[in-house]
Order: sequence, then C-alpha cells, then structure tokens
Amino acid sequence: GVGGHTPCFPLQVLFVESICDDPAIIEENIKQVKLSSPDYKGCTPEEAVADFLQRIECYKATYEPLDEQLDSGLSYIKIFDVGVRYLANRVQGHVQSRTVYYLMNTHVTPRAIYLSRHGESQLNLKGRIGGDAGLSPRGRQYAQALAEFIRSQSIRELKVFTSHMKRTIETAEALGVPYEQWKALNEIDAGVCEEMTYEEIQERYPEEFALRDQDKYRYRYPKGEVTAAGDSGTRRGWLVTPPEPVIMELERQENVLVICHQAVMRCLLAYFLDKSSEELPYLRCPLHTVLKLTPVAYGCEVESIFLNVEAVNTHRERPQNVDVSRPTAEALVTVPEHY
Ligand code: F6P
Repeated sequence: GVGGHTPCFPLQVLFVESICDDPAIIEENIKQVKLSSPDYKGCTPEEAVADFLQRIECYKATYEPLDEQLDSGLSYIKIFDVGVRYLANRVQGHVQSRTVYYLMNTHVTPRAIYLSRHGESQLNLKGRIGGDAGLSPRGRQYAQALAEFIRSQSIRELKVFTSHMKRTIETAEALGVPYEQWKALNEIDAGVCEEMTYEEIQERYPEEFALRDQDKYRYRYPKGEVTAAGDSGTRRGWLVTPPEPVIMELERQENVLVICHQAVMRCLLAYFLDKSSEELPYLRCPLHTVLKLTPVAYGCEVESIFLNVEAVNTHRERPQNVDVSRPTAEALVTVPEHY
C-alpha cells in the first residue's frame, strides 16, 4: 500500500513484451510509423529506415527483456514476431486471461473492415425505431449498390456478418455470397418504445425521453430485452470493451463486411476509432453509406463512401434542453424528418 495504507483491492500487473526480429516486419513498421516523424522530414524512406535501424541498435544497449529465470514470479506475456509465438507466464484471474486471449486474437495482417447499416427499412421511412421490418424500395436499391461496390473492391476472402434481423439479412442476400448471422449485432431493443416514432415516445413517455437524452450511453429503455450482448442500456459499454465476442471476432478476421444497425455501428466505430462514451451515441452512421476502416499503426484510417441511393436521415442530435420538464417543442427540435 502507498504510505502505509492498505489498498482496497490488490493491484495486479500484467507485463506485455513484444519481441520482433523479423526484418520485413521491422522495415514495414518503420515506414508506417516513423516516416511522418519530424526527425525524418526531407528523408527518403530508405534513409529513414537505415537511420532508424541504427537507432534500434542503440536502444538494444539499454533494453532489458523479461528474464525467464529472474522474472519467473511475474505475470507476463511475451509476443514474438507479432503473433507467430507467445509465452504466457503466471497469468492469473479473469482480467489477465481475457487480456492474453485478446492479445492472441489481434494481428497486423493488412486488411479492411467495411461497416454498413442495412438498406433503408419500411420503419425507417416512417421514422419508427426498432421492429423487424423489411427493406423499402430504396433499401433494396442500396443492397444492389452495396453488392456492386463490394465486387468493385475485389476483396480477398471477404467474410460477411449480419445481425439476426430481416433488414440486414435482406441486404446481405443481394451480395450473393455466404454470410454469418450474429445475434450480438442486433439493434438495441427499445422495449416499450419499439416501433414508435421519437414524437410518440415524447408524447407517451416524456420523462424517459429526457432521461435518455441526459445519458444516452447508459440509458436502457423500459422492458428493453436483455440480449446475448448484454442489456440494451449497457451493451454499448459491453461492445466497446475488447472481450466482447463480436469485437474479438472482428479482431481475428481479415477482410470483413459487417451489415448492422445505427446504434451497433456506432459501438463498432467507437471501438476502432477509440471514441469516448460521450461521443459514441452521437457518431454519424448514415444509411446507405459504407465506412471502410483500414487499420494502421496506432489507429484506423476511415473512408466514408455514400453509394448514391437516397435514404431518410435517422440521426437525432442531443437537444440543448434535456430537462424532464422541458416543453415538447424543445424535446423534438432535433428529430429528423420522416414520412
Ligand atoms: O432509427 C433506426 C434505429 O436503428 C432504431 O432501430 C434504433 O432504436 C435507433 O436507430 C438507435 O439510434 P439512437 O440511439 O440514436 O436512437
């Protein structure tokens, strides 16, 4: 304990050491990470690589690896050549073993993660949330456009994931390739508010509507079903933590297209782009738009591709007034237009 106090909980440390001797991986990493450094302004990639290799030689003089004998009492994982081999030592308890499992599922093989919502649904058209509706005519057009887009990308061994909901499955069907259905990708359950418009929620449950605006990330709709991925309120929190099975699977996969829903796509995006829980529920994931994520060192590049099929807007910004006693007009000020 610090200063003689007994800590409330025992602190556990898991050391992670990444050891890489593969010259090809090292060179690629230097190019990805160091070329943009001010140190190498005006250098050619070859000059930068040669200089940084010399720097690594200098680092070696002071670098202390985890020692198999001296450190045998510590909890650690050594990762060799970014995942060719692992050595796990004294891994204890749930958090440590999940962390090791997570690290063993990540990889640095170049790939792309394509995120898309389903095509516009019949309920989207009416501004109604939740439900299990099929696609609108424009939604079906989007499914075709998505199929063409995916073909045009000539993606090697693409895996396609959908939720269990009709609108994602109908969208995936147009691709004409096999797909996997994941219940954990289902849209949040709006409980008693399923299939209502935001206007109707304000009319029937004004207090709930305001509470959601106050803390959208943690809010759970009354009677919102507890799903495989956690309950409707906390599943967003669940989804952004690495042990969540969908995230784990996406880490493990190479090229993958995930056809999902507004709230779920926001969770996935927040995980890959490292967004905060405050930003997450308001990330923009418009219909008929593919987000192509390309993992690079220390993050992901994002490209947003609108596939030129019009759709309703389903994005509702947080209104200024989130007080439970706010006037109706102020609660509805940010509700998007619908039929
Ligand atoms: O409106 C489409 C939809 O996917 C609904 O089914 C869902 O309740 C909603 O979006 C989630 O978005 P938000 O969390 O912004 O209400």
